[in-house]
Amino acid sequence: MHFDILTIFPEYFHSPLKVGLLGKAIEQGLVKINLINIRDYAQDKHRLTDDRPFGGGEGMVMKPEPIYYALEALKVTPPSPYIILLGPRGRVLNHQVAQELAQKDRLILICGRYEGVDERIKKHCVHEELSIGDYVLFGGEVAALVIIEVVSRLVPGVLGHPDSARKDSFSHHLLKHPQYTRPRVFKGWSVPEVLLSGDHKAVERFRRQESLKETLKWRPDLLQKASLSSEDKAFLKG
Ligand code: ADE
Repeated sequence: MHFDILTIFPEYFHSPLKVGLLGKAIEQGLVKINLINIRDYAQDKHRLTDDRPFGGGEGMVMKPEPIYYALEALKVTPPSPYIILLGPRGRVLNHQVAQELAQKDRLILICGRYEGVDERIKKHCVHEELSIGDYVLFGGEVAALVIIEVVSRLVPGVLGHPDSARKDSFSHHLLKHPQYTRPRVFKGWSVPEVLLSGDHKAVERFRRQESLKETLKWRPDLLQKASLSSEDKAFLKG
């Protein structure tokens, strides 16, 4: 998976891309990141990337030309490959959207800042605007990192165990069951007995029920899409 990131703050990405499983995936070449400083494509001697909004109002708007020329320099005549503008006015990211994005070979992520990006970029140069949730960030950089993480987890070979992504929360419209590790007792808080029993069927049943319980408590909206057995339904009712 190849990501091109257009930003006025490339330094935002330096440390996060070096650590943990994502850092390893980049080192192994499973994930490629190309950081592009939008300011390098500014057209005036002050290298301006933003300006006041036409019509008045607070704040600044990102100018269209630096972003357009940064895209042009990638030699990808819009609208291909998949170009995403990060901003709060878009489709909201979730596991299904991440799965959709993971099918692509290359994603171009444009990080908006300030009061937003000149609408002509959204209209003529990008496939879609994506939001990471119903709140407003200072800019799209954190959102781009979120997309890089969630999509990279789904790239074959990135996770140590191929089952991990399949068993993640949301992958079957259910929250994942809780996990425990050693010690068996800490501060008098015990690990559920069944997990120590060695009875694989009982462990599976317990985990399924915990997953159903958590989902019912915190995200009942997900249950409508989950595929539930008659045993699951009976458990949820009881
Ligand atoms: N930029 C500002 N807020 C955002 C959000 N919620 N998602 C993506 N990019 C953003």
